[in-house]
Amino acid sequence: MDWSKRFPAIRGKAYFASCSQGPLSVDVIHALKKYQQSLLKQGNPWEEWTAEVYKACELFSKIIGAKPEEICPHYSASSALISLLSSFRPNGRKKIVTTDLDYPTIGVTLNGLKEYGFEVEIIKNQEGVIDVNEYRKAVDSDTLLVATFHVSALNGFRQNVKEISEICRGEGAYFLIDVYQSIGVEPVDVRKMDVDFLVAGATKFLLGLPGAGFLYVKQEVVDSLRPSAVSWFSQKDPFRFGPEKMDYRKDAKRFEMGTWSVPSMYAAAAGINIIAEIGVNKIYQHVEKIKKHFINLIYDQGFEFFSPIDESVGPTLSVLIGSKSHEVELLMRRRKVITSARGPGLRFAHHFFNSRQDVQKAVGQLSKVLKNL
Ligand SMILES: Cc1ncc(COP(=O)(O)O)c(C=O)c1O
Repeated sequence: MDWSKRFPAIRGKAYFASCSQGPLSVDVIHALKKYQQSLLKQGNPWEEWTAEVYKACELFSKIIGAKPEEICPHYSASSALISLLSSFRPNGRKKIVTTDLDYPTIGVTLNGLKEYGFEVEIIKNQEGVIDVNEYRKAVDSDTLLVATFHVSALNGFRQNVKEISEICRGEGAYFLIDVYQSIGVEPVDVRKMDVDFLVAGATKFLLGLPGAGFLYVKQEVVDSLRPSAVSWFSQKDPFRFGPEKMDYRKDAKRFEMGTWSVPSMYAAAAGINIIAEIGVNKIYQHVEKIKKHFINLIYDQGFEFFSPIDESVGPTLSVLIGSKSHEVELLMRRRKVITSARGPGLRFAHHFFNSRQDVQKAVGQLSKVLKNL
């Protein structure tokens, strides 16, 4: 299948940067034009924009096995998390557990909570892997929340979410998962994984643009959460002027933060639609196959992985480059191979549009770049 007709951004390129920015599709271009037309022709069709924002939420809810009312539209994974965390007070459980393989979205944001008296415990990785037993040691009856990743942005390590969830349940702690590096490519099901909260954004494998994030809050817990970072959209009636007390919306939309980034939500809906049309299971199977080809070729060339390749890994595989990883990213881009450097690794993110030929081109060009470095 020639996906380049639908994705102008991959034409003439081997595109392996969906862990950073998914390639632009004609679907997203049309969605942005539709938004532009709505401004030009109708001026202020708020009803149309509201419908589009909530359509994006509904599409997102479907690919994570949630109900539409359990999703709150946001601007980034960070803003979604910040808004959720404002529900917690340090007058009961004080400990929050995360890991050093989590994206700074989690670590930095949690650090902010220390100002209010929370303690943050960071589980350290061992050779790029988080041992699930470390959660057993860290999570106890003082633990309020475990917040961690499904697939690590740094090295692609994939955690067993269900196992961590069982540990949280055993101690009565909340469980939040950051699926930004797996959503769209790996099966994610909030009920099967048994999570309370989930954050992600549309920029990467979901093929959208920056400015669209999503927060999932399990219906059974939403009513007990009273966020302090609220906006007029968090009220049952957003247009109620002069409120004397907070009248929270019944569902996850109580975490809304004012006027949405409407164009980003148009793009998000278009991107998620493509994923839904192809189907996550089909994408996952393709990606697992193409990754094997990539791994074989990388080893044939005598390169090493920064990803813990013998462990469970997600769609993105990071090849060990060293201190020049960013330079290599730029040199690869000149050779029409789009990748993304993080730390000492060069990340190759696999998606449904990547073919065996793409993999051959990418590894071939990497060989040439590294020889001339
Ligand atoms: C796993 C993960 N979480 C969070 C983020 C950052 O998200 P945001 O900038 O939307 O907060 C990224 C970005 O690369 C990521 O890979």
